[in-house]
Amino acid sequence: MKLSVIGCGYLGAVHASAMAELGHEVVGIDVDAAKIMQLAAGKPSFFEPGLPEILASAGASGRLRFSTDMADVADATVHFVAVGTPQMQGSHAADMSYVDAAVAGLLPYLKPGDLVVGKSTVPVGTAARLAQLIADSGTGATLAWNPEFLREGFAVKDTIEPDRLVYGVADESAAAVLDEVYAAALAAGTPRISTDYATAELVKVAANAFLATKISFINAMAEIAEVTGADVSQLADAIGHDARIGRRFLNAGVGFGGGCLPKDIRAFTARAEELGRGESVAFLKEVDAINLRRRQRAVDLAVEALGGSVYNKRIAVLGVTFKPNSDDVRDSPALDIAVQLKGLGAGVISTDPQGIENARLRHPQLDYTDSIDEALNGAELVVLATEWTHFRELDPAHVASLAAGRTIIDGRNALDAAAWRAAGWTYRGMGRP
Ligand code: UDX
Repeated sequence: MKLSVIGCGYLGAVHASAMAELGHEVVGIDVDAAKIMQLAAGKPSFFEPGLPEILASAGASGRLRFSTDMADVADATVHFVAVGTPQMQGSHAADMSYVDAAVAGLLPYLKPGDLVVGKSTVPVGTAARLAQLIADSGTGATLAWNPEFLREGFAVKDTIEPDRLVYGVADESAAAVLDEVYAAALAAGTPRISTDYATAELVKVAANAFLATKISFINAMAEIAEVTGADVSQLADAIGHDARIGRRFLNAGVGFGGGCLPKDIRAFTARAEELGRGESVAFLKEVDAINLRRRQRAVDLAVEALGGSVYNKRIAVLGVTFKPNSDDVRDSPALDIAVQLKGLGAGVISTDPQGIENARLRHPQLDYTDSIDEALNGAELVVLATEWTHFRELDPAHVASLAAGRTIIDGRNALDAAAWRAAGWTYRGMGRP
């Protein structure tokens, strides 16, 4: 099939390459010429395992092109809209200007029978509004909403082998087109839910709201564990054995960040309030508040560990990205903690295997090093903020040979507490004695 993908950020670049990898002929469109040039050269502007490989193989096959010219979508019959919906400045609502601009930009090139497929995470009601706009255009094109559930770090796998496909459609002909696009996944047995626009839009935000709630739930238990001497990791193991609860996404620590969960729960709350149903998701404000408190807790632990003040103390912060296997620092707890410690007068030095370049753009006032050893050298306190394997596998004796202090704060409960203690460290986890 001939496909276009409008927006070549994280979602769009992965979707375009994955669709070409599956045999479709794809053109990726973005207004950012530098991004397009990089993608055309097979070099994504962000770190995602496996993406350079499929960009190269799809590019070599001739099935994948990138362009800044919207006119290049003219041959395609299915047009994916994969632009961002960031949190609006000064509000919790989603900024819809990129989605609106993408659809407006597509209109002059749409033909009868074309299908516009929204993938962006949007406030419920958007698809119906855009479907009307497309119907009014008289182009003969129609709209479907097909939310994306990919995780950073697993984006290629999640796109090629999704755990479910959700179609928001107005009629079955649109679902049949999407079935053709995703024929490979469907043949492999991927469950497919074909529904209305509103349900499809809500599936995405409901899934992210649930995941965020699950994390904040266990972090709330960590807060209770902290005043009772209980161990939240063992608690998570124990409740996780109940298949109805499940152990995944029950890791307490400094909480969730990234470009999706924080902004999606805020945008969902804002949209529910607009719809007069704010009370239905009022708990998401608590989910957000618990999440932000855990970053503060890590800072408080650092202050406590250093005898009441971090002023002029050298602190190594391990990690800047919001999670491992990503270079994304959007709303990253790790960076937030480093910034807060620096604000309290600490000499913070941050290290990360992938995220330093992005972190420096956002927080040029912080000090960074590529070398873990350099970060640890002379550190009076070590804070693990992102659980990269590089940090999980650190040898406590080696770290002791570099650091000046002997306290480690494990902001992700990712280290072997007993091993660190045995090597002479004071180990402080999150919600653990
Ligand atoms: C998320 C959703 O998982 C994905 O389905 C959606 O499409 C986009 O948002 P992503 O942002 O890539 O994906 O990251 P995810 O792996 O979900 O982690 C989100 C955050 O939660 C990270 O900061 C992670 O460190 C944190 N987290 C995750 C926890 O603190 N504890 C956990 O148990 C799990």
